[in-house]
Amino acid sequence: MIAIIGGTGVYDLPGAEERERTLVTPYGDVAVTEAHLEDGTTLVFAARHGKGHAVPPHRLPARALLWGLKEIGVKAILATSAVGSVREEIPPGTLALLGDFMDFTKARASTFHDGPGVVHQNVSDAYCPTLRAALRRSAAAEEIALHPQDVVYVCTEGPRFETPAEIRAYRMLGGDVVGMTQVPEAVLAAELDICYAAVALVTNLAAGVQGARPSHEEVLELMGQQGRTLSRLLLRTVRELGNDYGCSHHGRQEGMS
Ligand code: HPA
Repeated sequence: MIAIIGGTGVYDLPGAEERERTLVTPYGDVAVTEAHLEDGTTLVFAARHGKGHAVPPHRLPARALLWGLKEIGVKAILATSAVGSVREEIPPGTLALLGDFMDFTKARASTFHDGPGVVHQNVSDAYCPTLRAALRRSAAAEEIALHPQDVVYVCTEGPRFETPAEIRAYRMLGGDVVGMTQVPEAVLAAELDICYAAVALVTNLAAGVQGARPSHEEVLELMGQQGRTLSRLLLRTVRELGNDYGCSHHGRQEGMS
């Protein structure tokens, strides 16, 4: 089964028959929606910040959500993510697949491997190549424009936006977009051996890029305009992958060291 994690601005799936479920986990309870599409595909939907956007990024129950999804048999996750652009050549309105991340978070529970015992998770392929290819195929079929290159996501702690100096630094380091939620979500998916991919929607230029001063209102406004396109892309991909999705990229993974 495939799960969709909807970020800012993506709080439900239009047109699906839905049933609410509470997943009980050692890390707390989490609410998800099981959805049945008209062609027989079943998927699970979770609003990352809760319905009504109640939970701030540094307090998200990521371990509960990922653990719960694993327990009900989720093999792949497609996530959405609202991001600021660190580069003026990636303008607001751009949809891009994430290809890698940099972690600038500070105080989050970011692993299931809390000891005893030491596990160093390999995150070289944090964003599954098989899912990314499927998303590109669906985008082409739906005539949805995706940025030609997969982008590097810089994860900040939030909940404040970044300073212009921080954004300059991230640009020099090779970051393309900035957001507050990919870590630990993508890491926890890797630890549980769940395939993971994320589509970012650029909602704004990051602080200082062409003099930008980001605001949450601006982020919500762009998501409001493009949220439906994003849902269409994800639902098409879920349908294409089907209920029995099994990932070829896992066969190539090295496992833990
Ligand atoms: N910075 C961090 N997170 C974000 C931004 C931003 O500019 N826009 C949307 N999410």
